[in-house]
Amino acid sequence: MLVLLPIRIEITTAPVAAESTANASAREAQAKLASPPAEAEPAQAADAAAEAGVTAVSDVAGSAGAARQAQGALVEYTLKTGFGQNPQNFFVGVGGDIDGQVNPTLTADVGDTVRITMVNGVPLQHDLHLEAFGVASPIIQAQDQSVTVEFVADKPGEFEYHCMIPGHADTGMKGKLLISGEGPASAPAGDDHGMAAEHSSAPAAAPAVNPANPDAVSIVRNPADVPAPVGDRDPTTVRVDMTAVEVSGLLADGTTYSFFTFDGQIPGPMIRVRVGDTIDFHLKNADGSVYPHSIDLHAVTGPGGGAVFTQTVPGQETSFSFKALNAGLYVYHCATSSIPHHISNGMYGLILVEPPGGLPPVDREYYVMQAELYTEQPFGTQGDLTFSADKMSHEDPEYFTFNGAAGALTQDEFAMRANVGETVRIFFGVGGPNATSSLHLIGEIFDRVYDQASLTSNPLTDVQTTTVPPGGATMVEFKVEVPGRYILVDHALSRLERGLAAYLIADGDEQAEIFHSDMPANMAGH
Ligand code: CU
Ligand code: CU
Ligand code: CU
Repeated sequence: MLVLLPIRIEITTAPVAAESTANASAREAQAKLASPPAEAEPAQAADAAAEAGVTAVSDVAGSAGAARQAQGALVEYTLKTGFGQNPQNFFVGVGGDIDGQVNPTLTADVGDTVRITMVNGVPLQHDLHLEAFGVASPIIQAQDQSVTVEFVADKPGEFEYHCMIPGHADTGMKGKLLISGEGPASAPAGDDHGMAAEHSSAPAAAPAVNPANPDAVSIVRNPADVPAPVGDRDPTTVRVDMTAVEVSGLLADGTTYSFFTFDGQIPGPMIRVRVGDTIDFHLKNADGSVYPHSIDLHAVTGPGGGAVFTQTVPGQETSFSFKALNAGLYVYHCATSSIPHHISNGMYGLILVEPPGGLPPVDREYYVMQAELYTEQPFGTQGDLTFSADKMSHEDPEYFTFNGAAGALTQDEFAMRANVGETVRIFFGVGGPNATSSLHLIGEIFDRVYDQASLTSNPLTDVQTTTVPPGGATMVEFKVEVPGRYILVDHALSRLERGLAAYLIADGDEQAEIFHSDMPANMAGH
């Protein structure tokens, strides 16, 4: 196992100003966390600091090097976190040479003690890591909360400081620390991104899992939850309100997961308008959310599909309006980094833009979306599973879902139903973020496939399996001729065993002329 430099982490609830100056020389690295100044009276806060400072100090990596004295100067930097378009999450320098610089390059000499205070400029989760020096601050979230880390720059080189919240460093929340001078011969060489320490650790043990959350709720959207047809009306203005809600939900029996949703269910609500309508769109991000959220609707003609103007921090609301210029069935999804993380976690849905005069009437309409989930723990693990950024970047999912949870649409409550003789239409989309669906209904043939969800082209007819890419959709229609249980699948059938199946239960009289067997039915699909 790699031996890290000794680190101390101090967490206090006190304002920065009320803390006593730390004895830097005795500590190679430390972190102090402070709440926003407004939260406490200075005198009380000082008491709290004294108390919390004592109880929360912990030696993370032993005391082998604790006696080493820093010999150089104390170099202090303040970084404020920011949130914007490009980069989406970033640090900005406060004071001194780095004032106003985005992701400033910090400098120090070998032997200097480096103290970096990170102040939260936005009420979002961030932390500060510098693996090369064993620095890993606690996460801060509240506006104006701050955390201070301190370490001795004991080796020369170019190192990266960054935030470890998924997606933040990847989308720009990182900068350089340049340390000049000569290092001791025994000091490990600096690596250019500071991640070597993590990757050279002992072989990974089985990922830990917490007990399933007893308060987890169903996040499954009923596939019958489809808005009424627009029909034959003139274009108008339609107001749409949606709320981004982070929720602990049931992924499978005995298995829970922290989902991100639009309006609490997966997929988000189906939006139904007509071509020529103007949509006045409002996105709220629920109080208590940890992440910012946004929306990109593929039906939008305009910057980011709306995402440029809807990056919404917890507790706030954004809006924009757009005219639906093109008929079709379109995916919408959150477009806040890490985007695939937000999509995978449940932030996707469909918006149907009907052509003039509406769609041909059918007897039943259903709304189904496919996605995949990347959990640290293997498929089938019971407990409260956690997201794996690593598996997501390798496109190696554990779960595949229709409407948010493993096997959800095979339950009585959520199965699709029809009577023999009826025509069924399925609005089907793929949130993904990565896997393409080979949509197939076992025992049926799609009479019509509106390929690529194009509603202005003639549909394909008599199709067994149709391809639906991530961020794409299709509209399929078929008449139910024979009673029985039909299984909607992605014909990449390994996924069937990882949660991807939906039932269509057809009731009615046997149709021996079309299908007949003297054997007892076993209800098997394939
Ligand atoms: Cu961050
Ligand atoms: Cu989001
Ligand atoms: Cu998109």
